[in-house]
Amino acid sequence: MAQKAKFGSKLGLIAATVGSAVGLGNVWRFPAETQANGGAAFLLVYIACVFLLGIPVMMAEFALGRAGQSDATGAFRKLSPGSGWWGTGLLAIIASYLILAMYIVVAAWTVEYTWQSVTGDLYAGLHSSSRHAAESFFASKMHDYIFSDSAPLIFICLIIAANIGILIKGVQKGIERVCNVLMPLLFLLLVIFAAVSLSMPGASAGVEYFLKPDFSKISPAVVANALGQAFFSLSLGMGILITYASYFPKSTKLGSTALSVSMLDLLVAVLMGFVIFPASAAFGLSDADLGGTTLVFVTLPEIFAKMPATQLWSALFFLLLAVAALTSTVSLAEVSIAMVQDRFRRSRIQAALIVLLPLFILSTLISLSLNSFSDFKILGKNLFDLIDTGATNILLPLVAILTCIYMGWFAPKGILRNEITNNGQTGRMAASAVIVAVRFLAPVLLLFILIMGISSF
Ligand code: PHE
Repeated sequence: MAQKAKFGSKLGLIAATVGSAVGLGNVWRFPAETQANGGAAFLLVYIACVFLLGIPVMMAEFALGRAGQSDATGAFRKLSPGSGWWGTGLLAIIASYLILAMYIVVAAWTVEYTWQSVTGDLYAGLHSSSRHAAESFFASKMHDYIFSDSAPLIFICLIIAANIGILIKGVQKGIERVCNVLMPLLFLLLVIFAAVSLSMPGASAGVEYFLKPDFSKISPAVVANALGQAFFSLSLGMGILITYASYFPKSTKLGSTALSVSMLDLLVAVLMGFVIFPASAAFGLSDADLGGTTLVFVTLPEIFAKMPATQLWSALFFLLLAVAALTSTVSLAEVSIAMVQDRFRRSRIQAALIVLLPLFILSTLISLSLNSFSDFKILGKNLFDLIDTGATNILLPLVAILTCIYMGWFAPKGILRNEITNNGQTGRMAASAVIVAVRFLAPVLLLFILIMGISSF
């Protein structure tokens, strides 16, 4: 059998995993959730969730992947042959593929906006500087670019083509190499944006909103949203970390890797807070609705339009979003590719094409479900919303609960501890805490997210 692919360096392995974690969840969903859930208080609860839920569940997925040395279904099969646990991996693959198809559509919008910023079309025809006029100007642009049948399609094809280009090259020469370049670029762009935003006159009101907690704002719903956000942002429950960990060398320390990845992911979210809140305060837009598509496609262009070098800032910002999104799509696709390779014994190139080519149709259908096909509804939702809420709020917590229960209670004895401690060499105290979290705390918290997810359906 061919040698199992591995990441080539420690830095590369972190870049690739951070590449998966850092995505539109950090640069877009996080500020929107922070605003919807009361500002700084949400940030505090979110940080607690990353430590209590995020890091232990991440370590459980890493342990499963590295011990199983296979794809998300194969890992369960190898550790517990003859049991039905591999169904959990299958559920993860289905969830990740559906989310991939939807995420490609959103990623395509960011590329489209990068392009329209470069050409200047996004800002062409904006004359009045009144807030109301600017808002409706960009809302109508958003309808032309996003809520239209044909405009997003070429960008959807571009994103899929980029995924094919990266993923046929494999783990080291494809995923790792691209993330090694794109992740530092993303951090650099973010730091520049945060510095510019923080230096604007009037920025401090935004900083205060983001950092000064009002504890009365914390409610069960805020906690559920913070848990859900941590979960999505860290790419948990989708088989990604299981798959990537099968490419980790035996010497990789899972605890310090999980800590580095989670902290970098948190850093990106916090930096993004330092971009959005000060700038919106500086331009008197703090009361603008940052939810849904408005933040990125209406409020931010309003801000760029008022800055000198509008097109440059705008293009750089949408490029940042596109980079964040691309490395996440690559990781989502890798889950299915690894499965096709391992289970059906296909070459890398064949597996990549088998997984990615159908997305030309699937993602197109999802895009059309926001436009011409919006009357076609399942359970009262169009295809885009169905996947968005169904896969994210239900399938993902479900997979994570099953993974934790498996790793905590049913996996061959000692596997979780041995993997976390590299067979007793490192972090034994921390391992005990993580094991308690995986056995008891995580399933309970995840059940809470799942119930909230089902009841919001
Ligand atoms: N974690 C990514 C983000 O924050 C999203 C993602 C979700 C990526 C699921 C892969 C899997 O945007």
